[in-house]
Amino acid sequence: MWKVQLFKLNFDEQESQAVKDVVDSGWLTMGEKTIGFEEAFSAMLGEGSNSIAVSNCTAALHMALLALELKAGDEVIIPALTFVADINVVRLVGATPVLADCESYNDWNVSAKTIKAQITAKTKAVIVVHFAGFPCDMDEIISLCKAHNIYVIEDVAHAPGAKYKGQSCGTFGDFGCFSFFTNKNLSVGEGGMIVTKNSELAQKAKYLRSHGMTALTLDRHKGRAITYDVAQSGLNYRIDEMRAALGLVQLEKLSKANAQRKVLVERYVASLKGVPGISIPFLDLDNIESVYHIFPILLDKAIDRVNLIGKLKEDGIQSSIHYPAFNTFTAFKDIGLNDCPVAEDIASRELTFPLYPTMTLAEVDLVVSSLKNALTQ
Ligand SMILES: Cc1ncc(COP(=O)(O)O)c(C=O)c1O
Repeated sequence: MWKVQLFKLNFDEQESQAVKDVVDSGWLTMGEKTIGFEEAFSAMLGEGSNSIAVSNCTAALHMALLALELKAGDEVIIPALTFVADINVVRLVGATPVLADCESYNDWNVSAKTIKAQITAKTKAVIVVHFAGFPCDMDEIISLCKAHNIYVIEDVAHAPGAKYKGQSCGTFGDFGCFSFFTNKNLSVGEGGMIVTKNSELAQKAKYLRSHGMTALTLDRHKGRAITYDVAQSGLNYRIDEMRAALGLVQLEKLSKANAQRKVLVERYVASLKGVPGISIPFLDLDNIESVYHIFPILLDKAIDRVNLIGKLKEDGIQSSIHYPAFNTFTAFKDIGLNDCPVAEDIASRELTFPLYPTMTLAEVDLVVSSLKNALTQ
């Protein structure tokens, strides 16, 4: 149906072989592949990181809030412009979500300034999102949160491999939570990683991942344990070996794939700069290495987004919206969320174009010419 779709997997025979090898091995969950994936992920992030592979990023975020013992009466500051997982996990531990606005119309991330505006005596944690793969200004955010004794959780769903001043995103806060959902920079279908430099928190996260049990099925299989204790209450947020094996192959490909995304975004930016009716965010930011998870643009107020999406569709170009504002969803209409004018305005005018590592420059050009035609009609 689509000439250029929003996302395509960066898979080849290596991924097929990796899954087949696991199936043939007879060991399907939390085994050597999972351990290997966790070790390789920690190595990618840099010294001192403990990586714990989990079912998905939402599970990782939920575990982070549980490990930090957030509860009713606590406020957690989250970006106003993000995926619904961030608000859902806060509400599901009984805490109150408070929204931080985007820094500006160029930098759509939250910043120390927009977080500070929401801090109260009840603020216990902040979740930051490195939107579209662009790192937040972590130096300022970390020093603000330290000064106020507030935990920092990084939602790194958009940004595996991204760096701020040379340091990997996901290693600044108390926890980093990654997504390996199908359309992410590193895809396994459903999967995630929770990362921390604090060994006590890492142990808590391991218990939360698997029923609080002190020994896993693998330990018993290997003869390392006969039975187990339950150290605390926990969940089943484990990953399986097929996904861990996919993760290992995808991790090998990550830096080349991210570099390819950069080439494609540079083509988009060069072709779209100066086009009337749109603007491109995240231009000329200092100290960061983006991994270009998505390519978002902002439409001028006069442009009818639904109509434009329809015109692009007629040309076979798929587009998407990141993200509808929380107060447009039934579940959050009446919960007293604070206003965030910049994020709400961006949410009403944002449009995301196709981007994936195997996309060609010719496909970028097709998207751009379809957009230019649509804007001049
Ligand atoms: C910013 C952000 N946070 C969290 C998630 C949730 O990730 P998962 O689907 O792995 O639970 C996503 C996924 O789309 C996301 O984009």
